[in-house]
Amino acid sequence: MLAMPGRAATITVKADQPGAAINPAMWGAFFEDINFGADGGLYAELVKNRGFEFPEPLMGWTKLSPSLAKGELAVRDDAPFNPNNPHYLRLKSEGTAPFGVSNEGFRGIGVRKGEAYDFSVRLRAIAGASDLKVQLYGGDGAVLDTVDLKDFSGAWKKYTATLHPNDTDAHARLAVTLSGKGTLDVDFVSLFPEHTWKNRPKGLRADMVQALADLHPGFLRFPGGCIVEGSVLDRRYQWKKTIGPIEDRPLLVNRWNYEFLHRPTPDYYQSFGLGFFEYFQLCEDIDAQPLPILNCGMACQFNSGELCPLDELGSYIQDALDLIEFANGSIDTAWGAKRAALGHPAPFGMKLLGVGNEQWGQQYIDRYEKFAQAIKSRHPEIQLISAAGPDPADARFHFAWDKLRALHADIIDEHCYALPDWFFSNTHRYDGYDRNGPKVFMGEYAAQSVGVVSVKNRNDLECALAEAAYMTGLERNADVVRMASYAPLFANTDAWQWTPDLIWTDSLRTVRTPSYHVQRLFAQNHGDRVLPTTMSRLPTGEAVRRYASGVLDATSGEVILKLVNGTASAATDTVELTGIRQIKGGTMTVLHADSPSAVNTLDRPEEVEPGTTAFSPAGPKFEVTLPANSFTVIRLGAAQ
Ligand code: AHR
Repeated sequence: MLAMPGRAATITVKADQPGAAINPAMWGAFFEDINFGADGGLYAELVKNRGFEFPEPLMGWTKLSPSLAKGELAVRDDAPFNPNNPHYLRLKSEGTAPFGVSNEGFRGIGVRKGEAYDFSVRLRAIAGASDLKVQLYGGDGAVLDTVDLKDFSGAWKKYTATLHPNDTDAHARLAVTLSGKGTLDVDFVSLFPEHTWKNRPKGLRADMVQALADLHPGFLRFPGGCIVEGSVLDRRYQWKKTIGPIEDRPLLVNRWNYEFLHRPTPDYYQSFGLGFFEYFQLCEDIDAQPLPILNCGMACQFNSGELCPLDELGSYIQDALDLIEFANGSIDTAWGAKRAALGHPAPFGMKLLGVGNEQWGQQYIDRYEKFAQAIKSRHPEIQLISAAGPDPADARFHFAWDKLRALHADIIDEHCYALPDWFFSNTHRYDGYDRNGPKVFMGEYAAQSVGVVSVKNRNDLECALAEAAYMTGLERNADVVRMASYAPLFANTDAWQWTPDLIWTDSLRTVRTPSYHVQRLFAQNHGDRVLPTTMSRLPTGEAVRRYASGVLDATSGEVILKLVNGTASAATDTVELTGIRQIKGGTMTVLHADSPSAVNTLDRPEEVEPGTTAFSPAGPKFEVTLPANSFTVIRLGAAQ
């Protein structure tokens, strides 16, 4: 069936009347260790439960005992290699046949032929063990590579080897076996690709960081999300436990392990191999402002809602002050010196800090006030992000805004997960916001194709167009909305808890969703000044799902237009740039597909991809055809 042409609109851009300055870091990214985002994701460790610290200490490990093998496995904690991670495995073999264990990785170990993998382990000889075989197996059982370790000592010692798999496999396993008779203690069994982001040893997964870097996020919010809060205070995120040697970082259960009974993830723990130093380093690498969020003395209000009494908040506030010193202090300060000792004497230049995640109610206001008093009196240069709860318009939200406005809060974090229609219908949300009150951080948002936390949600084009439409409203109000980030960022197709997500992965691949492309196009075309932009009213029904915004790139002098056609019909609109004499070339980038339900998948990652062509209208008044289901970015060189 042929689609009817859509009604034409006239889009007027006052190109000679630049308005509010746009925060150069407006479009950012939200990172949380959800959906195997860090362990099993960004953090490139391939061995799950490497230190035998999970409550089921052999989770992720399988006993390898062919029928002839006689031996015993025991998880012990006496005289450990590291008291912060006290458990280790004792392998005792009778020597009748090779005996040991294999690790399944994070839903499969992904290895590539032609690449090298760094293996390391801590070993202690107890009796007679003469050699330990380290092997990579493919999902089909084929041996991909083998090395032998020998000459063990009676004290804990680190052993290393390099493995070169002879094939690519997304579901490989790593085995360690004793060939002969003997007893050996084994701990911190680790395997990393040699090729990591910037090839840092034991670093981050290169393809995932590349996808993040390609977004050009102006800021990176970390480490969450509800993970900051913990389901109880004991399980909250504590940044000081995430720095220094990785063996010293105590393991913690991931709150997403047990949050959704319909998506249980019993093997989800936080090793903190991606800790606060690594987060700051990552921000620096990708030129994103660091935005850490800290626990404010409240556990997740969807869970226990446990509170730290107000008169005991001191250590929480001290954690915040120490973090500022860790990030920004000179090397003569206690925490600045710790940063320097980790290899980064220069400050990280942190300007933003979140107090609490998605908190609400008077308990939050009471705690925020104490944090704000302590931090602002010592560090007026730090902009504080405060919380307004999980909903963009309910009583909790309005309560928070009223209180935070009275406290002259800097920036308020708003969250919204809703159907595409909500985003299409709320593009004018910020037009009426008080220009003199706190600024807005649209800190978590994503269109949900079916419903919030529905497992049936899909990252389809309609959701991406709804977000693009909404973002034109954020952009038009850039004087109030200073920052925005889609959430969550990463999800593993085999281990997710929450959908939709911006980037999907498996053990070897990543795929960028249509929403990713929208985020990227906004970040790459952020401009510096808002240009007043209006769209003529269309007959009832036609204006729905048609949106426009304009910005000026003051450095290049280009006018940038963002146009959303979320309807099923192409439309030829007239664009008029007032105050412009001449157009000096330009480009048009279009993201679209025939169907609004189009998606990208790991197997078909390029179904919905933006394409760029030259676009050079003859003058400042021109026609442009917007395909059905499309988001279009036009950049024009313009002379006044
Ligand atoms: O993004 C997923 C979760 O949604 C975040 O952890 C939380 O802040 C929000 O409820």
